[in-house]
Amino acid sequence: SEEEPPNLVLESKDISGVAKYIDSEECQNVFLMVGAGVSTAAGIPDFRSPGTGSSILPIKCEFLISSSCAGMSGLYANLARLDLPYPEAVFEIGFFRENPRPFYALAKELYPGHFRPTISHSFIKLLHEKSLLHTCFTQNIDTLERRAGVPGDKIIEAHGSFATQKCIDCQTPYDGEKIKHAVYEGTVPKCEECGGLVKPDIVFFGEPLPDSFISGVSKLKQADLLIIMGTSLTVYPFAALPRLVPDECPRILINLDEAGDIGYRSNDVVLLGPCDEIVRKLCKELGWEEELVEDWEAT
Ligand code: APR
Repeated sequence: SEEEPPNLVLESKDISGVAKYIDSEECQNVFLMVGAGVSTAAGIPDFRSPGTGSSILPIKCEFLISSSCAGMSGLYANLARLDLPYPEAVFEIGFFRENPRPFYALAKELYPGHFRPTISHSFIKLLHEKSLLHTCFTQNIDTLERRAGVPGDKIIEAHGSFATQKCIDCQTPYDGEKIKHAVYEGTVPKCEECGGLVKPDIVFFGEPLPDSFISGVSKLKQADLLIIMGTSLTVYPFAALPRLVPDECPRILINLDEAGDIGYRSNDVVLLGPCDEIVRKLCKELGWEEELVEDWEAT
């Protein structure tokens, strides 16, 4: 006979149904998948919302550009003066070897410390404080999840981040304070071991995804709840993750627009709107609103 669809684990497919499920015994391992949309309220444009000029950078599925800046067309205009052959060259490892200056000009604009985490980032931290957060998969390199207080071992930065850096030749790790100084001085940091170029651990064209992503994917079968926030789910392999959670695991999309295949499974819930607003309503239903605001005010 037709495989019976798993019974609906949510009482209702809305914010209160989601809140009740989060509050229930069944919900122990919450997985997050986030994208540039959780950082737009921090002042970092996303890639594909109209008007962010995000079509500048075609994306090669197996290798990713990792930057929450592609939408900053103004920024790209500046970079154009650095005679890039084409915009995505700034994130190509081959071009970087020849001329690292455009990337470091961009890094100066993007370097962590300019932006504050959003309410949505604080929600991820709150899930950790409630011992519900299993893993947060992020596509962003702005490190705002860490800045919001989410422990590093709970975050998988699928596209890398500015958090660490190393020599692209001998792989020797490079000091964080020294690279920060170089970025703000507008100089290009060189490896103290071999003189090679130093680059933040951001996934460039021509580079593989981090091992942490590969090993993290297998954990998705433990998910009791998947929350997908602020992403268009257009870039693979990241966009393939929602299909890896068990059929009975509710998948909640919190986004301005529909994304991926969320909505097709009986346990899917699609909550369209600004993520900070929806997160606030969800936390209000859970009685967590005060803690959420406290966490955010502490960032
Ligand atoms: N609240 C909710 N959703 C939002 C908000 C917001 N405040 N702001 C934007 N969004 C939504 C947009 O509607 C869009 O669906 O977030 C999504 C952002 O999608 P993209 O711009 O495609 O960003 P993302 O999904 O993170 O891109 C993935 O593409 O260029 C590569 O490697 C790069 O990590 C990036 C990847």
